[in-house]
Amino acid sequence: MAKGEGKKKGKGKLGVVKPVELNETDAHYLKLALKEAKRGRYTTSPNPAVGCVIVRDGEILGQGFHHAAGQPHAEIMALRDAGGDVAGACVYVTLEPCCHYGRTPPCAKALIEAGVKRVVIGSRDPNPKVAGGGIAMLQEAGIEVVLAGGKLNERCLKLNRAFFKSITTNRPFVITKLGMSIDGKIALSDGTSKWITNEDSRSDGQRLRLWADVLITTAATVRVDNPRYNVRIDELPAEVMTGLDTALIRQPPKVVIDTHGTFCQDYDPELIKPYSIFSQGESFIAVGTKQNLAKIHEAVVATEEGAVPKLPVSRVKTGWKVNAERIIASGPNFVVERFTDRVSILVLPQDRDHVSLEALLDFLGSKEMRVAMVEAGAALTSAFLNQGLVDECYCYLAPMFLGATAQSGLKLPEPPTLQAAQRFAQMDCKVIADNVLVVLSQPLRLPAVKRTSRKKTALSPAKTASASAKKSASSAQKAATGAAKKTSASRAKKVTAKKTASKASS
Ligand SMILES: NC(=O)c1ccc[n+]([C@@H]2O[C@H](COP(=O)([O-])OP(=O)(O)OC[C@H]3O[C@@H](n4cnc5c(N)ncnc54)[C@H](OP(=O)(O)O)[C@@H]3O)[C@@H](O)[C@H]2O)c1
Repeated sequence: MAKGEGKKKGKGKLGVVKPVELNETDAHYLKLALKEAKRGRYTTSPNPAVGCVIVRDGEILGQGFHHAAGQPHAEIMALRDAGGDVAGACVYVTLEPCCHYGRTPPCAKALIEAGVKRVVIGSRDPNPKVAGGGIAMLQEAGIEVVLAGGKLNERCLKLNRAFFKSITTNRPFVITKLGMSIDGKIALSDGTSKWITNEDSRSDGQRLRLWADVLITTAATVRVDNPRYNVRIDELPAEVMTGLDTALIRQPPKVVIDTHGTFCQDYDPELIKPYSIFSQGESFIAVGTKQNLAKIHEAVVATEEGAVPKLPVSRVKTGWKVNAERIIASGPNFVVERFTDRVSILVLPQDRDHVSLEALLDFLGSKEMRVAMVEAGAALTSAFLNQGLVDECYCYLAPMFLGATAQSGLKLPEPPTLQAAQRFAQMDCKVIADNVLVVLSQPLRLPAVKRTSRKKTALSPAKTASASAKKSASSAQKAATGAAKKTSASRAKKVTAKKTASKASS
């Protein structure tokens, strides 16, 4: 047990606070902090959205929110806004303050040093590097910590539901979007689909893209619709634009599932030229292989130029054949090959006839992509649903009937009984002019997470296993994007599958 962890001080265990229903004053200021937090909700990924308000004797001394990863956290923004003396103040923050050195130093430490007296928290942080550690650090310094319960706690949890899922499972939060007629059709039999839903619904769909860290589609949809799948700022709903720092908006990379590599055969760039999706931003063409990717990864050596395998890559008769000279990154269950400046080939294991969706999500999770949005036709959307991989399903319904022969939005197998049907726990509806948005979701829950040891995470730059796993994952990403500045230490470092696998699982 790390020093101080689990020990009793005063009443109760350090790091553990029971959620309570807040009084009117506390609820008022926490709601203000939540309002602040929402200003960053589309720009903070891979970090959570957090807001903070500092109050003393009924006066707001400072407030702020986290804008983007690498920038100061909400508590620091609020301390800076207060501009000096906050001794004895009460801090309202939507998420447990961090206690580890990440891209920035620990916020709990900054609050202690600032001499605040009380901290009201909207929700715990299940990030294994925090998970009660921030609360414990504050309590240890004699600061009173209050955790909100009830509806306010739920609202704080909801704001960061994607972060919570992703940080605890190492896979992105998956959302699907379908624009359908009321009889569940997404296109006429001749493929005509423009437009089934109204302009406001499509604008709302842009909001989902803004939220997403990656868009997943298929070669089939790209060939039929030739979509751009980008975020169009001028089409975003007005309420999203309020308080949004447009300079921080990023275009999500795209993954185009193309198991048989029809877009990258013979590495011919002419094959993708007609398709808009590949002309902007970063894309991956996800191809399937039956080669042993772990074996290839074991042999990969990081170099100045990227990552190359030391051993020749064996050839097999089925699936994509990895080209040793094109490898720019690898992991136990993926290889990334260079294709064009903007487009890489993501080689994944094949699950029967298609790329493995679970391996795809593992790859995206290793890149800290918190929200993955599936924008595809019936086959892929159904595959994600059928495998139980969808966290939220967004269905925009238009007041029209397209008939039995039109294309269905989903192609799911019929359950043997009504009881066996796949159900989402929650269904919310929003009227959008003459359309209705139906959102299906799972219940909000914060998984119980054991914090990585305090010694490693609290006050010294972390050397934890998960940090190393992240480092190895992020170096793979840097190599994949060509953005890496390799350090001499990373040169010629053999990245073994065994090491990474054990790190990733810790
Ligand atoms: N209304 C909307 O919101 C919307 C959105 C997008 C598209 N669309 C429409 O959808 C139509 C295309 O739909 P579609 O059903 O033909 O195509 P789709 O669902 O976009 O893609 C089909 C492809 O998905 C991949 N796939 C299928 N099952 C899979 C599994 N279990 N695991 C991994 N990959 C799997 C396969 O690619 P591989 O063979 O390469 O593995 C398959 O060819 C178009 O007409 C387009 O206009 C509508």
